Amino acid sequence: MQTLQTTSLQVRDNQLWILDQQALPQQKNWLPAHSVPQLIEHIHALRVRGAPLIGLSASLLLALLAEQGQTRAELAQALETLRAARPTAVNLMNNLDRMKLALAQPDFAPALAEEAWRLVQEDKQLCDAIADAGCTRVKPGSQLLTHCNTGGLATAGVGTALGVIARAHQQGLIKNVWVDETRPLLQGGRLTAWELGELAIPYTLITDSMAASLMARGEVDAVWVGADRIAGNGDVANKIGTYSLAVLAHYHQIPFYVAAPHTTLDRSCPDGAAIPIEQRAASEVTGVAGSFGSVQWAPEAAKVYNPAFDVTPATLISGWVLDTGVVTPDQVQGGIFQPQ
Ligand code: MRU
Repeated sequence: MQTLQTTSLQVRDNQLWILDQQALPQQKNWLPAHSVPQLIEHIHALRVRGAPLIGLSASLLLALLAEQGQTRAELAQALETLRAARPTAVNLMNNLDRMKLALAQPDFAPALAEEAWRLVQEDKQLCDAIADAGCTRVKPGSQLLTHCNTGGLATAGVGTALGVIARAHQQGLIKNVWVDETRPLLQGGRLTAWELGELAIPYTLITDSMAASLMARGEVDAVWVGADRIAGNGDVANKIGTYSLAVLAHYHQIPFYVAAPHTTLDRSCPDGAAIPIEQRAASEVTGVAGSFGSVQWAPEAAKVYNPAFDVTPATLISGWVLDTGVVTPDQVQGGIFQPQ
């Protein structure tokens, strides 16, 4: 396969490499993701993360394994193992469905390489289209609040919600971005803060608990988040803490936008209650770990609840900003996301 370089994925020497998102921003380490167990371990540890990026990394690895001579049966097994790596983001399943069709081709190795390459190029185009559509909703002088990380690290392109923010900045529309640190794994504090800094976009880091008082002071003009899955009724699964922001935005009458590619839409999922939510290790809540080391502050035996995502009901969302354009609450109520 030809060489590839995105913000957080590389294909070189016919192997896949990932930028370790757990070590950022202190260290920029490219790690091998040369086998299915290796990539799955990276996905579980969130060294590779973000709905679109997980799907792309799995697709690229399958294509590379095919080029290295794995059989159709081995690749079919690998594909199903990768499909189960993270349950909530539907992009992984969507991408692997397309890779499965390529695997059924008589000449499957080149078909897989072409499909993985196409998925990467498409993701870049989807991000650009989301950014263009989203900018129509950003007012000049905006102070926007964002949660988790939805930028170039999480996609092959400019990102989803963060892509909108970056393009709006290019258009001179952004005064400041409030970056939620995003407990427990701190994707906002570590990754979004780093990306915004690299892009020279003015930002201010806050803990998640500070959003309410900022809104009450009139210092948030809109909230922009990504999505891991959009159900047929418009409910959205995204990083834990998203729902709290939506409730706060509703109370303070602030627009709340979800930005995602149309491939994040799961028409077969009737509503948010049907979206599987990943539960994660207690250690992520009892302490913190990263390139800075690890520390535990809670009692060893503390009982912990640690869902990685929550569901925001459609009634709290002002607009679903897709690559195809901005979908309004009326359109969602009218069934635009229902099975066709
Ligand atoms: O657990 P993570 O860091 O993979 O969660 C990421 C999110 O929730 C993002 O908002 C979502 O995947 C969209 S990324 C463009």
